[in-house]
Amino acid sequence: MIDLHIHILPGMDDGSRDMEESLKMARCAVASGIKAVVATPHVMTGLYNNTREKILDAVQELRSQLKDNNIPMKVYPGAEYMLDPEIPRWLKECQALTLYDEGKYLLVEFPTTDIPIYAVQTFFEIALQGVTPVIAHPERNGIFLEDPDKLLPFIERGALCQGTAGSLTGLFGSRVQEVALDYLLDGCYHFISSDAHGIGGRFPDLSEAFRIAEGYSAGLGELLTKDNPEFLLKGRAPIRPPVVEKLSDKGKLSFWNRLWRKKITLG
Ligand SMILES: [Fe+2]
Repeated sequence: MIDLHIHILPGMDDGSRDMEESLKMARCAVASGIKAVVATPHVMTGLYNNTREKILDAVQELRSQLKDNNIPMKVYPGAEYMLDPEIPRWLKECQALTLYDEGKYLLVEFPTTDIPIYAVQTFFEIALQGVTPVIAHPERNGIFLEDPDKLLPFIERGALCQGTAGSLTGLFGSRVQEVALDYLLDGCYHFISSDAHGIGGRFPDLSEAFRIAEGYSAGLGELLTKDNPEFLLKGRAPIRPPVVEKLSDKGKLSFWNRLWRKKITLG
């Protein structure tokens, strides 16, 4: 598996505190079947001012330490950007760091309890730079939790989504899990990643989320944790995930599932 979203670079954000913890995270990831990760430290103006150069240097240092410690895991550069109207300018000036540093996909998170009014316009301007936004863990945003349908305008405009493994397993509570499962079955997620911040609560493990996805549809876990992240690595577009039929208590597709199915397949 490839973990596309992990805070494994030491001392750069609220993830790994030092190299020792980063190496523990790497060993944990390898033990759970992860062979490569994209290191995605937070970039938040005023809080985590991680520049592209700083991240690239930190990735090189971690690679060196992994080699010295015989840990068989690859690490690639990336970042998790808090949505900011300046992102299109950063891209234009080659300051922003895309996933795998390929200039094609940018991991973007929304504020926890808000979808800013400039969100759609900023996504549009990111797309104008030839970059596709990947929305990090939409299931953990308060607005989407209240009304999951509000994710649709972003998907309809070409954004991809990354679900967090812990959301599917219930780590963030029952409502987050419920919305995450709906998004999973409605084909909204192109990727499932750990978003691990250490070796405690949010640790690097995709195996349980993999089993959950495979349980609903054979091959779905493989697509979201292995194939699609690998396609990005090779510069290819990820495959659109299938919509999985979800039966209500009466044995029919739920209204929600029918609606999403129609919108997603038409979109
Ligand atoms: Fe994150």
